[in-house]
Amino acid sequence: MFNKIALVAAVLSPLVHALTLNTPASAVATEPLLVTWSTTPGDQPFSLELANSGSGEQIALANNVNPADESITVTLPNVSGGGFTLEAVNFGDNADVFATSAPFSISAPPS
Ligand SMILES: *[C@@H]1O[C@H](CO)[C@@H](O)[C@H](O)[C@H]1NC(C)=O
Repeated sequence: MFNKIALVAAVLSPLVHALTLNTPASAVATEPLLVTWSTTPGDQPFSLELANSGSGEQIALANNVNPADESITVTLPNVSGGGFTLEAVNFGDNADVFATSAPFSISAPPS
């Protein structure tokens, strides 16, 4: 019984991930960034990654985030430029992306 439900959930899960990551309005390298999202019941804990579409680089910002928190403050690494996105990924499998923000730019750190 339980296995059957788990199987159905596993098959349907790509369709029911309803996590939506908001795109930061402004982001400054090396400074704290408030990341917010909306969630629906059933969303799994995720890892938050900073991805750069240009370089393909993926930097972990937070692991095992509880979707119900709906926000987390992370400190940005010392990276700047355009084409960054936030990704919520399965913390056991970075290739399983639950949600991606729109692209945004990160400003150079204050000197
Ligand atoms: C960030 O990186 C730049 C370029 O590598 C460097 O010049 C700067 O000192 C770094 N800033 C901080 C706050 O680490």
